[in-house]
Amino acid sequence: MIICKLADETQRIVKESTKDGQKSGFIPTMGALHDGHISLIQKSIQAGNFTSCSIFVNPTQFNNPADFAKYPSTLSSDIDKLEEAGCDLLFLPSQNEIYPPDFKPPHYKLGYLESVFEGKYRPGHFQGVCMVVDRLLKIMQPTLLYLGQKDYQQCMVISKMVSDLGIKTEIAICPTLRENSGLAMSSRNMRLTADQKTKAPLISTELLRLKKNIREGNVDSILEESIKTLDKAGFKVDYFSVANAANLQPVTNWDGQSKIVGLAAAFLGEIRLIDNMLLN
Ligand code: PAF
Repeated sequence: MIICKLADETQRIVKESTKDGQKSGFIPTMGALHDGHISLIQKSIQAGNFTSCSIFVNPTQFNNPADFAKYPSTLSSDIDKLEEAGCDLLFLPSQNEIYPPDFKPPHYKLGYLESVFEGKYRPGHFQGVCMVVDRLLKIMQPTLLYLGQKDYQQCMVISKMVSDLGIKTEIAICPTLRENSGLAMSSRNMRLTADQKTKAPLISTELLRLKKNIREGNVDSILEESIKTLDKAGFKVDYFSVANAANLQPVTNWDGQSKIVGLAAAFLGEIRLIDNMLLN
């Protein structure tokens, strides 16, 4: 695997490696790689792409400085995992390479998507995500961008940005990988204590219960029950909601037909966990 820290050099290598028409696949990450990330790398390799991954802990998407400071970093094991998976290139930029001194932060028109769920609880987060992904896509110019469904709203935000800016990259959204306990894989899980790790799967248990029990009509009581259960177990719930899967408008009275998604975010101690499940 080629490891490259410079944007120009990385772009040159991707162009050179795909000059005979091979497609390129790109997986942006913030490191602390787990099997969920590796499954995206594998999807890209299986599709025959020249496959690149980036590791960059993007400061502009952290609304909480402590979360940024404590974001796990496991670079040497990340490199081993990428090598083993057969990744072709790792882009490992410095802050200066992504945000040079003359970088002018653009503003992205995300509209409603930025005002709900993660947008509401993490002000500025999606502007930061768009800023870095836009920059990375300009460098990598991939045929395909692989994203995990675990960050459901992020997938929608990035899809909107790519479409609004006319970026010629196709987006492949891949299923969330889970621990045997049901806990959605996430780099932040590394920061859970042993006790918290036994509690954390309750979010996915409650989403599964929602999926099993949701019926046409008012959905409030079933959501309230889950929130109560999570509260009792020691979570501080930001939201546990049902929304239209296509536009994230909240659903309180389900027509029994439209595609819906269950979305959850809750703190366990100082670790904020998110998860989601398509419900029908
Ligand atoms: O999902 C993530 O890890 C990040 O938000 C991303 C897409 C790599 C941008 O920093």
